[in-house]
Amino acid sequence: AADTADLLPQMGFNNWNSTHCRAEFDEAMIRGIADKFETLGLKDAGYRYVNVDDCWANWQRDKDGHLVPNPKRFPSGIAALADYIHQRGLKFGLYSSAGTSTCEPLQEDRGFPGGLGHEKDDAKTFASWKVDYLKYDNCNNQKIDAHKRYTDMAEALRSSGRSIFFSMCEWGENKPWLWASKPPVNAGSWRTTGDISDNYASMLKIFKENVVLDKYAHLGHWNDPDMLEVGNGGMTDVEYRSHFSLWSIMASPLLIGTDLRTIKPEALKILLNKDVIAIDQDPLGVQGHQVRDADGIHVIVKPLKDGGRAVAVFNEGDAAKDVTVAATEIGLKAGGSYTMRDLWAHTDAKGDGSIKTKLDPHATVMYRIK
Ligand code: DGJ
Repeated sequence: AADTADLLPQMGFNNWNSTHCRAEFDEAMIRGIADKFETLGLKDAGYRYVNVDDCWANWQRDKDGHLVPNPKRFPSGIAALADYIHQRGLKFGLYSSAGTSTCEPLQEDRGFPGGLGHEKDDAKTFASWKVDYLKYDNCNNQKIDAHKRYTDMAEALRSSGRSIFFSMCEWGENKPWLWASKPPVNAGSWRTTGDISDNYASMLKIFKENVVLDKYAHLGHWNDPDMLEVGNGGMTDVEYRSHFSLWSIMASPLLIGTDLRTIKPEALKILLNKDVIAIDQDPLGVQGHQVRDADGIHVIVKPLKDGGRAVAVFNEGDAAKDVTVAATEIGLKAGGSYTMRDLWAHTDAKGDGSIKTKLDPHATVMYRIK
């Protein structure tokens, strides 16, 4: 039987949000990032995957039809990179697309042939390199049925001889939440939206699209509202704390998207908030449910394994607001007595289960109540 820990939302790093296909994306960078997992305390906080996105591969297959890495970016090869990452007690993720080629145009230093029609061969190649995770994109899909395309790769991975986490990146186009968690696909996660970018409007839009899909997520199968932008500079720290709070209460994959070699202390502090991470990783495995969406105030409640509840209260608007949330709105008995932990202040207080707070614009408060 699988360990519950393996069924919780995946945590790690992916280079896309910080580098896209720029030349700085190469094996030296990925090794440098892997080194930081230990020294920055990320491994200790639960981050495990070091994932490589589009543009890792050469723009042509080799003469036998196999994928090969771009010789400029990954001269030592992918197997060597996977070894390096495994030696640090981490796991390695790679990327492909369920199409004839990936999203970046095929040129010498970017893009590469996709997996469509090559599923078995490519899955064997990934297994031989000791890949632990495949992000499978949706570009150049020739309008072939998504269910078929993702089933073909899922089955190829299962018969590859290695256990490989399947992260579907179909952008929510074919309502994957209705079918991706079930056989024959059995994806570990599926993207529910288009790409995030490093600004508040984008984060807000994606949050709103993903938060209503809570009933489709469960242990081992998660809605994926895309990777984190925390640390990339386009939002304020208040907004980044909201981003991290909302993704966690939605039990989302927590994939860091900033360059960990140069991350600023405040951003690192957000990503290392163990109180908030524990909400994302709670073993009950339930995505938080939005119980209020009115006047720009969002209240999301997530039941926890210990019988308690996590609550996030988010002010999407541009003016500060006084907010009251009754205990009953959180699903707690009125008149009870509770311990209420503030997950950003890291303080405990006794309370009646209700929350009274003044929220700055774009700010979120988060409590763990028991
Ligand atoms: C589209 C995906 O949604 C992104 O996350 C990223 O993988 C790019 N493609 C890469 O081309």
